[in-house]
Amino acid sequence: MEKVLEVQNLTKVYSVGSLFSRTKITAVENVSFYIKPSEILTLAGESGCGKTTTAKIILGFEEPTSGEIFFEGELVSKKRLKKREFMRKVQAVFQNPFESFNPLITVDDIFFETVYNYGLTRDRDEAIKIIDDKLRVVGLSFEDINGRYPSELSGGQLQRISIARSLLINPSVLVADEPVSMVDASLRMSIVNLFAELKNKVGLSVIYITHDLATAYYVSDRIAIMFRGNIIEMGPVEEVLTNPRHPYTRLLRESIPEADPQRKWSQEITIADIEYEEYLRQGCKFAGRCPMAKEICTRQVPAEIMVNDVMVKCHMYDDSKNEVWK
Ligand SMILES: Nc1ncnc2c1ncn2[C@@H]1O[C@H](COP(=O)(O)OP(=O)(O)O)[C@@H](O)[C@H]1O
Ligand SMILES: [Mg+2]
Repeated sequence: MEKVLEVQNLTKVYSVGSLFSRTKITAVENVSFYIKPSEILTLAGESGCGKTTTAKIILGFEEPTSGEIFFEGELVSKKRLKKREFMRKVQAVFQNPFESFNPLITVDDIFFETVYNYGLTRDRDEAIKIIDDKLRVVGLSFEDINGRYPSELSGGQLQRISIARSLLINPSVLVADEPVSMVDASLRMSIVNLFAELKNKVGLSVIYITHDLATAYYVSDRIAIMFRGNIIEMGPVEEVLTNPRHPYTRLLRESIPEADPQRKWSQEITIADIEYEEYLRQGCKFAGRCPMAKEICTRQVPAEIMVNDVMVKCHMYDDSKNEVWK
């Protein structure tokens, strides 16, 4: 099976708390997954489960504490050239499109700069053609950005534009971290649809990070549900969301706590007490909230069990693929 990107046992430990009471939390714990060409994989889970940290590690903004990243079957960190290729081929779509653009530079200039920096052409007319082509993929044109400042465009337009800009260098993977949570509700679906179009038209793979299961269900091929740094269930989206196996996925389907839009990457991190407590738990991190929990859950980390084509990390299942207790 062809895999464009794969992560194995990604782990990120952060030191948190005040000066006098430092504790370590494992924000991402042994996370493994892959993505195939022309595939949309969603990482879903409530705020503070490690989605952004996972994205940042993949994008090279954070070093993992341990774990490996493979691109087209090759270990990324081991080869400088592979790493450079990787940085071009894996592009980010950010939550706040206004932050991805310098407000003092017109959008067309930002595009020209990208075209020239990447050596796509030196000719202005040719550059316009390249830029226009990519903008058309996202439903816009060069005219829409020519001479415009980011502040003159809407959030939805800017998000499309930022996607078009990453397309300039023909990436294979987009990592989109909550790309529509700051976009007007009425425009969200059109942006999410764009991922499906890009997948079909240009064979792009998308790691779609969201707390919104409705858009995830609609657009993704597979979904990974995260809880406190762990992928607790992963498989075909239809199967996972219509027939959830993990008690947390079941709960999540009923009500997903809203991500806090104020929370930014750069902002100082404060952990809610419950989050902190759950991260520090022995055994299954979800045991404290789980309606099914038994004694074993509080002391032993569940194994990753394959139930048909779904991976589930829960003591309710065993290797005989059966739900052993309810
Ligand atoms: N730079 C950091 N320093 C310390 N803790 C962090 C840092 N970044 C994230 N965390 C903590 O790691 C956990 C996961 O955060 P994050 O990856 O942002 O989750 P999500 O994107 O799912 O909301 C949270 O408890 C968060 O507070
Ligand atoms: Mg996040």
